[in-house]
Amino acid sequence: MHPFESAAIKDTPDRAAERKQHHIDICRTQNVESRAVAGTEFFLAPEALPEFSPDSLDTRRPFLGRTFSWPFLITGMTGGVREGQRINETLALLAERWNIPMGLGSQKLMLSDPASRRLFDVRKVAPRVFLMGNIGAVSFNYGVAVDAVVRMTEQLELNACAVHLNALQEQIQPEGERNFDRLLPHIEQLVKRLPVPVIVKEVGSGMTAETARRLFSVGVAAVDVGGNGGTSWSVIEGKRGDVLTHRLGELFRNWGLSTLDSVRECVPVAKVFGVAPERAVVATGGIRDGAQAAVLLALGAQMCGIGLPFFRAVVNPSDGISPEDSLEQEMQFFTRSLRIAMYCSGAQKIDELSSRLRLRGQQ
Ligand SMILES: Cc1cc2nc3c(=O)[nH]c(=O)nc-3n(C[C@H](O)[C@H](O)[C@H](O)COP(=O)(O)O)c2cc1C
Repeated sequence: MHPFESAAIKDTPDRAAERKQHHIDICRTQNVESRAVAGTEFFLAPEALPEFSPDSLDTRRPFLGRTFSWPFLITGMTGGVREGQRINETLALLAERWNIPMGLGSQKLMLSDPASRRLFDVRKVAPRVFLMGNIGAVSFNYGVAVDAVVRMTEQLELNACAVHLNALQEQIQPEGERNFDRLLPHIEQLVKRLPVPVIVKEVGSGMTAETARRLFSVGVAAVDVGGNGGTSWSVIEGKRGDVLTHRLGELFRNWGLSTLDSVRECVPVAKVFGVAPERAVVATGGIRDGAQAAVLLALGAQMCGIGLPFFRAVVNPSDGISPEDSLEQEMQFFTRSLRIAMYCSGAQKIDELSSRLRLRGQQ
């Protein structure tokens, strides 16, 4: 078999736990972000005379059957190791307090090592949080059964299940599971078997209209475009491997479709399959403030996913403050910047942002 087609290193529960710790250590401080390949430049038209009180701004957003207070979600990142559990607990407390959804990181480890289950469980600290599970679609080609994911979802009382698509990451990862052949029927089975909604997410390469169409056609409730411009899994896996792996990881740092261009491709497709929020598009990848999120919401994203900024707020708090306070400050930065962008563009509700959208150079 060609070396690029088979993983050089066999995956084991110990190795999977070690990999999760590597991911935390690398993302803590290293340069792991891609640069969004410039797309069209949109902005929100300013409103010089916003004739309403900022107190009447409405930032609520329906998604996957619940109404959240903000259009932000904490995208799935970690779990399964002790530090990951602590990070998740801090994130879950924030998510519950602010009434936003939160994702767990990949739970594959939980399937091979049931003892790791308690290291994913955040219900005991945040009983009411809207929690999304996480499994890699490619795992279905490597021995993970749809039934096992259904059981895992029940055991942790998850409110939704996110299935990640990460073809680029698996090609670079030293223990990568590289073969994505015929995964759609497994996703369809999962949608049929699970009592909770399924969301399918890319993790940094973006998503085209055609892929979104295939996913919505088997009944997924939402696609998260996971666009280029934020955390790069090519780079992170490159840093975990040998010299060749490192070179390949860097080569593909900026691979893919930006978050903005992915949203523009996928939103019209979602509309063909249903009315939002029943068929939703989530924008994730490189969102670093609420003003940027406002543009993606104006383009039709139902929610905006945030990963690295929240992760770093927890693992690298500034001197003298706790991880909890540091995360709270980051959340306030996102919510206040969104409110300012809404107010100063005259949008009282999130749905009103779309009428404020302008293309630079076309006034
Ligand atoms: C430390 C870390 C671990 C992650 N682990 C997972 C994972 O296990 N499963 C997954 O679907 N996405 C994972 N992601 C990807 C995020 O869900 C998200 O798609 C990505 O970070 C892009 O958002 P960002 O640019 O705001 O970080 C992880 C991200 C980070 C930063």
